Amino acid sequence: MDLTNRPRRLRRTDCIRRLNRETRMSVDSLIYPIFVDETLSGVRPIESLPGQNHYGLDSVYQAVEDCLSAGVKHCILFGLPARKDACGSSAWEERGVIQEAVRAIKAEFPDFTVITDVCMCEYTDHGHCGILHGHEVDNDATLAYLAKIAVSHARAGADMVAPSDMMDGHVAVLRKALDENGFQDTAIMAYSAKYASAFYGPFRAAAGSAPSFGDRKGYQMDPHNRKEALRECALDAAEGADILMVKPALSYLDVIRECADAFDLPLCAYSVSGEYAMIKAAAAAGLVDERRIMCETALSVFRAGANMLITYYAQEIANAIRMGEIG
Ligand code: PBG
Repeated sequence: MDLTNRPRRLRRTDCIRRLNRETRMSVDSLIYPIFVDETLSGVRPIESLPGQNHYGLDSVYQAVEDCLSAGVKHCILFGLPARKDACGSSAWEERGVIQEAVRAIKAEFPDFTVITDVCMCEYTDHGHCGILHGHEVDNDATLAYLAKIAVSHARAGADMVAPSDMMDGHVAVLRKALDENGFQDTAIMAYSAKYASAFYGPFRAAAGSAPSFGDRKGYQMDPHNRKEALRECALDAAEGADILMVKPALSYLDVIRECADAFDLPLCAYSVSGEYAMIKAAAAAGLVDERRIMCETALSVFRAGANMLITYYAQEIANAIRMGEIG
Protein backbone atom coordinates (compact mmCIF):
# COMPACT_ATOMS: atom_id res chain seq x y z
CA MET A 1 0.00 0.00 0.00
CA ASP A 2 1.18 3.49 -0.81
CA LEU A 3 0.48 5.18 2.55
CA THR A 4 2.32 8.37 3.45
CA ASN A 5 0.90 8.64 6.92
CA ARG A 6 1.38 5.66 9.16
CA PRO A 7 0.74 6.64 12.80
CA ARG A 8 1.67 3.08 13.73
CA ARG A 9 5.36 3.95 13.12
CA LEU A 10 5.39 5.68 16.49
CA ARG A 11 3.69 2.75 18.21
CA ARG A 12 6.15 0.11 17.06
CA THR A 13 8.23 -0.44 20.20
CA ASP A 14 7.77 0.26 23.88
CA CYS A 15 10.68 2.74 23.75
CA ILE A 16 9.23 4.68 20.85
CA ARG A 17 5.79 4.73 22.47
CA ARG A 18 7.36 6.22 25.60
CA LEU A 19 9.16 8.83 23.50
CA ASN A 20 5.89 9.78 21.86
CA ARG A 21 3.84 10.23 25.05
CA GLU A 22 1.94 13.50 25.18
CA THR A 23 1.05 13.24 28.86
CA ARG A 24 3.67 12.72 31.52
CA MET A 25 2.86 11.80 35.08
CA SER A 26 5.03 12.37 38.10
CA VAL A 27 4.82 11.25 41.72
CA ASP A 28 5.34 14.92 42.55
CA SER A 29 1.76 15.63 41.39
CA LEU A 30 0.00 13.16 43.69
CA ILE A 31 -1.79 14.11 46.91
CA TYR A 32 -2.99 11.49 49.38
CA PRO A 33 -6.09 11.98 51.61
CA ILE A 34 -5.57 11.03 55.26
CA PHE A 35 -8.45 10.60 57.75
CA VAL A 36 -7.57 11.37 61.37
CA ASP A 37 -9.97 10.30 64.12
CA GLU A 38 -9.59 12.10 67.43
CA THR A 39 -11.19 9.21 69.36
CA LEU A 40 -8.97 6.51 67.87
CA SER A 41 -5.73 5.05 69.06
CA GLY A 42 -3.90 3.15 66.34
CA VAL A 43 -5.17 2.36 62.84
CA ARG A 44 -8.66 1.17 61.81
CA PRO A 45 -9.68 0.09 58.29
CA ILE A 46 -12.43 2.17 56.65
CA GLU A 47 -15.30 -0.10 55.65
CA SER A 48 -16.63 2.11 52.86
CA LEU A 49 -13.15 2.57 51.34
CA PRO A 50 -11.44 -0.82 51.13
CA GLY A 51 -7.68 -0.43 51.55
CA GLN A 52 -7.97 2.94 53.35
CA ASN A 53 -7.63 3.60 57.08
CA HIS A 54 -8.62 5.92 59.86
CA TYR A 55 -5.58 7.01 61.86
CA GLY A 56 -5.40 8.05 65.49
CA LEU A 57 -3.28 11.06 66.41
CA ASP A 58 -0.75 8.58 67.78
CA SER A 59 -0.44 6.80 64.45
CA VAL A 60 -0.91 9.42 61.74
CA TYR A 61 2.86 9.36 61.22
CA GLN A 62 2.40 5.83 59.80
CA ALA A 63 0.29 7.18 56.96
CA VAL A 64 3.01 9.72 56.20
CA GLU A 65 5.73 7.06 56.31
CA ASP A 66 3.73 4.96 53.84
CA CYS A 67 3.43 7.98 51.54
CA LEU A 68 7.10 8.81 51.73
CA SER A 69 8.22 5.26 51.10
CA ALA A 70 6.05 5.29 47.96
CA GLY A 71 7.48 8.69 46.96
CA VAL A 72 4.27 10.63 47.69
CA LYS A 73 5.15 14.03 49.18
CA HIS A 74 1.78 15.67 49.81
CA CYS A 75 -1.35 14.91 51.82
CA ILE A 76 -4.74 16.45 52.47
CA LEU A 77 -6.13 15.95 55.97
CA PHE A 78 -9.71 15.23 57.01
CA GLY A 79 -10.73 15.16 60.66
CA LEU A 80 -13.24 13.18 62.70
CA PRO A 81 -13.70 15.19 65.92
CA ALA A 82 -14.67 13.76 69.30
CA ARG A 83 -17.42 16.36 69.64
CA LYS A 84 -19.91 18.01 67.27
CA ASP A 85 -22.27 20.94 67.76
CA ALA A 86 -24.50 23.24 65.71
CA CYS A 87 -21.69 25.61 64.75
CA GLY A 88 -18.88 23.09 64.39
CA SER A 89 -16.80 24.64 67.14
CA SER A 90 -14.40 21.69 67.34
CA ALA A 91 -13.18 22.67 63.87
CA TRP A 92 -11.21 25.70 65.06
CA GLU A 93 -10.05 24.55 68.48
CA GLU A 94 -6.41 25.20 69.21
CA ARG A 95 -6.03 21.51 70.10
CA GLY A 96 -8.57 20.15 67.61
CA VAL A 97 -8.00 16.95 65.69
CA ILE A 98 -6.67 18.57 62.52
CA GLN A 99 -4.55 21.13 64.36
CA GLU A 100 -2.95 18.34 66.41
CA ALA A 101 -2.49 16.14 63.36
CA VAL A 102 -0.73 18.95 61.47
CA ARG A 103 1.60 19.54 64.42
CA ALA A 104 2.33 15.82 64.79
CA ILE A 105 3.15 15.47 61.08
CA LYS A 106 5.18 18.66 60.79
CA ALA A 107 7.21 17.85 63.92
CA GLU A 108 8.48 14.67 62.31
CA PHE A 109 8.28 15.45 58.60
CA PRO A 110 8.70 19.20 58.15
CA ASP A 111 9.08 18.96 54.36
CA PHE A 112 6.00 16.81 53.77
CA THR A 113 3.26 19.03 52.33
CA VAL A 114 0.22 19.24 54.56
CA ILE A 115 -2.99 20.58 53.03
CA THR A 116 -6.05 20.83 55.28
CA ASP A 117 -9.66 20.54 54.17
CA VAL A 118 -11.55 23.57 55.49
CA CYS A 119 -15.22 22.71 55.92
CA MET A 120 -17.75 22.30 58.69
CA CYS A 121 -19.67 19.16 57.74
CA GLU A 122 -17.49 16.80 59.80
CA TYR A 123 -17.87 19.10 62.83
CA THR A 124 -21.53 20.11 62.80
CA ASP A 125 -24.15 17.90 64.43
CA HIS A 126 -26.44 18.47 61.39
CA GLY A 127 -23.75 17.53 58.86
CA HIS A 128 -24.11 20.61 56.66
CA CYS A 129 -21.08 22.58 55.52
CA GLY A 130 -21.95 25.77 57.37
CA ILE A 131 -24.13 27.58 59.88
CA LEU A 132 -27.85 26.89 59.54
CA HIS A 133 -30.54 29.51 59.35
CA GLY A 134 -33.70 27.42 59.49
CA HIS A 135 -33.03 24.64 57.00
CA GLU A 136 -30.69 26.71 54.84
CA VAL A 137 -26.95 27.15 55.15
CA ASP A 138 -26.38 30.85 55.81
CA ASN A 139 -23.58 31.89 53.46
CA ASP A 140 -22.41 35.09 55.09
CA ALA A 141 -22.71 33.83 58.67
CA THR A 142 -20.59 30.81 57.73
CA LEU A 143 -17.68 32.86 56.34
CA ALA A 144 -16.40 34.08 59.71
CA TYR A 145 -16.31 30.50 61.01
CA LEU A 146 -14.41 29.27 57.96
CA ALA A 147 -11.87 32.04 58.49
CA LYS A 148 -11.33 30.94 62.09
CA ILE A 149 -10.84 27.34 60.97
CA ALA A 150 -8.35 28.28 58.24
CA VAL A 151 -6.31 30.51 60.57
CA SER A 152 -6.18 27.76 63.21
CA HIS A 153 -4.89 25.30 60.59
CA ALA A 154 -2.27 27.79 59.42
CA ARG A 155 -1.23 28.45 63.01
CA ALA A 156 -0.70 24.70 63.49
CA GLY A 157 1.62 24.72 60.48
CA ALA A 158 -0.47 23.73 57.45
CA ASP A 159 1.18 24.58 54.13
CA MET A 160 -2.15 25.11 52.37
CA VAL A 161 -5.79 25.34 53.30
CA ALA A 162 -8.42 23.91 50.99
CA PRO A 163 -11.93 25.33 51.52
CA SER A 164 -14.46 22.72 50.33
CA ASP A 165 -17.61 24.34 51.72
CA MET A 166 -18.70 26.11 48.48
CA MET A 167 -19.77 29.32 50.23
CA ASP A 168 -19.67 32.42 48.01
CA GLY A 169 -16.81 34.76 48.81
CA HIS A 170 -14.94 32.26 50.97
CA VAL A 171 -11.58 32.58 49.24
CA ALA A 172 -11.48 36.35 49.74
CA VAL A 173 -12.45 36.02 53.39
CA LEU A 174 -9.85 33.32 54.02
CA ARG A 175 -7.10 35.25 52.23
CA LYS A 176 -7.82 38.36 54.28
CA ALA A 177 -7.93 36.46 57.58
CA LEU A 178 -4.73 34.56 56.82
CA ASP A 179 -2.90 37.75 55.86
CA GLU A 180 -4.13 39.67 58.90
CA ASN A 181 -2.80 36.91 61.14
CA GLY A 182 0.61 36.84 59.52
CA PHE A 183 0.05 33.83 57.25
CA GLN A 184 0.75 35.52 53.92
CA ASP A 185 2.62 32.41 52.77
CA THR A 186 -0.14 29.91 53.50
CA ALA A 187 -1.59 28.99 50.12
CA ILE A 188 -5.26 28.51 49.29
CA MET A 189 -6.26 25.50 47.21
CA ALA A 190 -9.85 26.35 46.33
CA TYR A 191 -12.39 23.63 45.66
CA SER A 192 -13.67 25.91 42.90
CA ALA A 193 -15.91 23.68 40.82
CA LYS A 194 -17.24 21.24 43.37
CA TYR A 195 -20.35 19.48 42.17
CA ALA A 196 -23.26 18.13 44.23
CA SER A 197 -22.24 14.58 43.42
CA ALA A 198 -23.32 11.07 44.36
CA PHE A 199 -19.65 10.11 44.17
CA TYR A 200 -19.01 11.42 47.72
CA GLY A 201 -21.00 8.60 49.36
CA PRO A 202 -18.11 6.46 50.68
CA PHE A 203 -16.33 9.58 52.01
CA ARG A 204 -19.37 10.69 53.97
CA ALA A 205 -19.64 7.22 55.52
CA ALA A 206 -15.92 7.37 56.36
CA ALA A 207 -15.96 10.92 57.73
CA GLY A 208 -19.39 10.76 59.39
CA SER A 209 -20.32 13.89 57.46
CA ALA A 210 -23.59 13.05 55.68
CA PRO A 211 -26.21 15.78 56.13
CA SER A 212 -28.88 14.77 58.65
CA PHE A 213 -31.59 16.29 56.41
CA GLY A 214 -31.77 17.51 52.84
CA ASP A 215 -28.74 17.60 50.56
CA ARG A 216 -25.94 19.95 49.48
CA LYS A 217 -27.54 21.17 46.24
CA GLY A 218 -28.09 24.63 47.71
CA TYR A 219 -24.35 25.25 47.79
CA GLN A 220 -22.53 22.65 45.67
CA MET A 221 -22.76 22.92 41.87
CA ASP A 222 -25.39 21.38 39.63
CA PRO A 223 -23.79 18.59 37.54
CA HIS A 224 -25.61 19.89 34.45
CA ASN A 225 -23.44 23.00 34.35
CA ARG A 226 -20.19 23.72 32.58
CA LYS A 227 -20.03 27.50 32.16
CA GLU A 228 -20.80 27.90 35.83
CA ALA A 229 -17.56 26.05 36.61
CA LEU A 230 -15.64 28.67 34.66
CA ARG A 231 -17.42 31.37 36.59
CA GLU A 232 -16.63 29.72 39.95
CA CYS A 233 -12.96 29.43 38.94
CA ALA A 234 -12.88 33.06 37.82
CA LEU A 235 -14.32 34.20 41.14
CA ASP A 236 -11.83 32.14 43.15
CA ALA A 237 -8.93 33.36 41.02
CA ALA A 238 -10.01 36.96 41.52
CA GLU A 239 -10.39 36.39 45.27
CA GLY A 240 -6.81 35.17 45.56
CA ALA A 241 -6.85 31.39 45.16
CA ASP A 242 -3.40 29.91 44.48
CA ILE A 243 -4.71 26.63 43.06
CA LEU A 244 -8.09 25.86 41.50
CA MET A 245 -9.83 22.51 41.75
CA VAL A 246 -12.43 20.48 39.90
CA LYS A 247 -14.18 17.75 41.85
CA PRO A 248 -15.09 14.93 41.20
CA ALA A 249 -12.65 14.07 38.40
CA LEU A 250 -13.85 11.20 36.25
CA SER A 251 -17.33 12.43 35.33
CA TYR A 252 -16.02 15.99 34.92
CA LEU A 253 -13.07 15.59 32.54
CA ASP A 254 -14.66 18.12 30.19
CA VAL A 255 -14.75 20.66 33.02
CA ILE A 256 -11.11 19.95 33.87
CA ARG A 257 -10.12 20.57 30.25
CA GLU A 258 -12.03 23.86 30.06
CA CYS A 259 -10.69 25.17 33.35
CA ALA A 260 -7.13 24.15 32.45
CA ASP A 261 -7.40 26.07 29.19
CA ALA A 262 -9.11 29.12 30.63
CA PHE A 263 -6.91 29.88 33.67
CA ASP A 264 -3.21 30.28 34.27
CA LEU A 265 -3.42 29.03 37.86
CA PRO A 266 -2.42 25.44 38.65
CA LEU A 267 -5.39 23.09 38.45
CA CYS A 268 -6.01 20.23 40.86
CA ALA A 269 -8.52 17.43 40.30
CA TYR A 270 -9.97 15.32 43.10
CA SER A 271 -10.62 11.71 42.22
CA VAL A 272 -13.20 11.19 44.93
CA SER A 273 -14.23 8.30 47.14
CA GLY A 274 -16.94 6.94 44.81
CA GLU A 275 -14.50 6.77 41.91
CA TYR A 276 -12.10 4.75 44.05
CA ALA A 277 -14.84 2.56 45.51
CA MET A 278 -16.25 1.72 42.05
CA ILE A 279 -12.89 0.46 40.83
CA LYS A 280 -12.36 -1.49 44.06
CA ALA A 281 -15.80 -3.11 43.80
CA ALA A 282 -15.44 -3.98 40.12
CA ALA A 283 -12.00 -5.44 40.78
CA ALA A 284 -13.24 -7.43 43.79
CA ALA A 285 -15.96 -8.89 41.56
CA GLY A 286 -13.26 -9.97 39.13
CA LEU A 287 -14.64 -7.74 36.39
CA VAL A 288 -11.69 -5.43 35.73
CA ASP A 289 -7.92 -5.32 36.15
CA GLU A 290 -7.65 -2.92 39.11
CA ARG A 291 -4.09 -1.82 38.46
CA ARG A 292 -4.69 -0.97 34.80
CA ILE A 293 -8.02 0.76 35.45
CA MET A 294 -6.38 2.78 38.23
CA CYS A 295 -3.61 3.86 35.85
CA GLU A 296 -5.90 4.64 32.94
CA THR A 297 -8.34 6.73 34.97
CA ALA A 298 -5.54 8.71 36.68
CA LEU A 299 -3.91 9.28 33.32
CA SER A 300 -7.18 10.57 31.85
CA VAL A 301 -7.31 13.29 34.49
CA PHE A 302 -3.83 14.54 33.60
CA ARG A 303 -4.55 14.25 29.88
CA ALA A 304 -7.64 16.41 30.47
CA GLY A 305 -5.34 19.11 31.81
CA ALA A 306 -5.02 18.70 35.57
CA ASN A 307 -1.62 19.54 37.04
CA MET A 308 -2.12 17.60 40.25
CA LEU A 309 -4.41 14.88 41.55
CA ILE A 310 -5.87 14.05 44.94
CA THR A 311 -6.42 10.30 44.97
CA TYR A 312 -6.87 7.43 47.41
CA TYR A 313 -4.64 5.47 45.01
CA ALA A 314 -1.73 7.93 45.36
CA GLN A 315 0.70 5.35 46.74
CA GLU A 316 -0.21 2.68 44.19
CA ILE A 317 -0.05 5.16 41.30
CA ALA A 318 3.36 6.31 42.52
CA ASN A 319 4.43 2.69 42.47
CA ALA A 320 3.06 2.20 38.95
CA ILE A 321 4.97 5.28 37.78
CA ARG A 322 8.17 3.93 39.32
CA MET A 323 7.62 0.53 37.72
CA GLY A 324 7.19 2.17 34.32
CA GLU A 325 3.57 1.01 33.93
CA ILE A 326 2.42 4.58 33.49
CA GLY A 327 3.93 8.03 33.09
C1 PBG B 1 -16.26 18.16 52.77
C2 PBG B 1 -15.73 17.25 51.72
C3 PBG B 1 -16.36 16.20 51.05
C4 PBG B 1 -15.38 15.61 50.25
C5 PBG B 1 -14.21 16.32 50.42
N1 PBG B 1 -14.45 17.36 51.33
C6 PBG B 1 -17.74 15.65 51.18
C7 PBG B 1 -18.89 16.43 50.75
O1 PBG B 1 -18.78 17.51 50.17
O2 PBG B 1 -19.98 15.95 51.06
C8 PBG B 1 -15.58 14.40 49.38
C9 PBG B 1 -14.34 13.64 49.04
C10 PBG B 1 -14.56 12.28 48.51
O3 PBG B 1 -15.69 11.82 48.22
O4 PBG B 1 -13.55 11.57 48.35
N2 PBG B 1 -17.23 19.02 52.38
